[in-house]
Parts: sequence; C-alpha cells; structure tokens
Amino acid sequence: MGKPRILLFDSGMGGLTVARAVAKQMPDAHLVYSADNAGFPYGAWKEQDLVKRIVWVIGALIARVKPDLVVIACNTASTIAMKELRETYPVPFVGTVPAIKPAAALTKSGIIGVLATPGTVNREYTHSLIHTYAFHCKVFLHGAPRLAEIAEQKLRGHKVDMDELRNEIMPVYRKRDGGRTDVVVLGCTHYPLLVDEINEVAPWAVSFIDPSAAIARRVADVSEETKLHASGEGFPAHGTVLLTSARGSASETLTAYGTMGFPRHDVVDLPV
Ligand code: DGL
Repeated sequence: MGKPRILLFDSGMGGLTVARAVAKQMPDAHLVYSADNAGFPYGAWKEQDLVKRIVWVIGALIARVKPDLVVIACNTASTIAMKELRETYPVPFVGTVPAIKPAAALTKSGIIGVLATPGTVNREYTHSLIHTYAFHCKVFLHGAPRLAEIAEQKLRGHKVDMDELRNEIMPVYRKRDGGRTDVVVLGCTHYPLLVDEINEVAPWAVSFIDPSAAIARRVADVSEETKLHASGEGFPAHGTVLLTSARGSASETLTAYGTMGFPRHDVVDLPV
C-alpha cells in the first residue's frame, strides 16, 4: 500500500492544528493543506451561500490535488456541508464538529462552555449534538466573532490583544447553583492555537477539549478502511498549501504555514 494523499481544508490556518495531529499520527502521509482565504472568515457567512461556496471550492481542489481522502478541518464548514460534499464527490470525507460528547463525559460540575464561530453556534447540527449528548448538562454556547482572526494574527507573529481575547471568551465562564464551568470545548480549529493566552486571561482553570488527536485517529482509520493505495507522488508535493486568493500570500502568512509544516505554496485563484 502506498502513501495516502490527504487534502486538509479550512477557511484559514485553523486546520493546521488538525494537520499537525494527522502528521503525528501518520508520519508517512502525503499532506496538502488548503485554505479558502478568499472566503475567510466562514463564521459570518449565510448558511446556503456557504454550502455553495464550500462545494465549489472543494470541487476545484479535488480536481487539482486528486486526494484519496479529504479532511474538512473546519467546524463551521463541517456542521453545514458534509452531506452535500458526500453526495457530490465520491472521495471519503472526515469532518470536524464540536466535541460535545467528550465534554459531557468529562465535566464534574455539569457546566460546559462551547466556544465556536457565530455560524457553528447557530447550526441545527450543533444543537442536536447538545440535545443528544449533553441534555443533562448546562451548556453555554458562545459564537466568538473575532477569535479565529486573533488566532490567525498570532500565527502571523502579531501580538495578541489580551483585553479583546478576554471579551471573546468570557461568556463561557459561568457560575450556576454553586458550580462553575469546568470544561470548555474548542469548537473551531483555530482556537487550540490560543490556549496559552486563553489560560492567561481566564478567570479560572478549565479542561479544554481539542479534538485534533481524535480526528487524526479517525483519518488513520478511514485510510485503513478504504485501503488507500495512492502513490503519494506528484503534485502538489507533500507540504504544499493551496490558497484561493493571492491576497493571503503575504510573506508573514507564508512563513506561518511554513512553521506549521507547509513550506510550499500555490494559489488556486478562486475569488469570493
Ligand atoms: N477554523 C474554522 C472552524 O473550525 C472557522 C474559522 C472561520 O472561518 O470563521 O470553525
């Protein structure tokens, strides 16, 4: 069996947290990362427009990369577009949705925070995860308008504005009936990049749920189940990032991708 060629996709750099976990789990995989930077941030898009956008962009990327497996390393996209993607393209997909189930299993206080984008917190899918797995818990869902952008800025080497960060996260730190939030779900793949800073401004310590290692295990299982046998050779080469607009190719952005294991880049010109 050759190396599986895996296409990882996000609106921006958040999916790099998943890519990092996949690289650790499957050191031989041929990884190509793609960011729809022309459409970033996805959190603010209208649902139907976003589904169309994602199906179109993924189509162009599949034609270009010819992946054996596609990882939608974005909660905002996965909670809305997985069905359409699977119906449209025959390649196997692995998605990323807020880790409500493990949070409900871990909490002692029964009070859980979910930090995600404004899009993800509005999804029916997210609410149904809560009804199914955390019906016995008090769940504080917060759509953070700027958190993904703050994470991107940090990766580009900019200083994090700690006051702004505090405002973005505070709504999930809550007290109820003598208890308080003890588990926070990182429901956007950008947020694990900010865990140190969040800990600095948070009013108390919590356990964070970062699902990237679990997603990487799922990617490895699907690769195995589907008996992938691509050669892993050819273009785009391992470690390439494909951007949908040249506006993301400023040197600090490319350096950020390089430090996360994607030193080459190319632009698939797909403006919004
Ligand atoms: N990284 C994405 C997620 O997991 C979304 C960031 C955005 O485009 O708003 O939801």
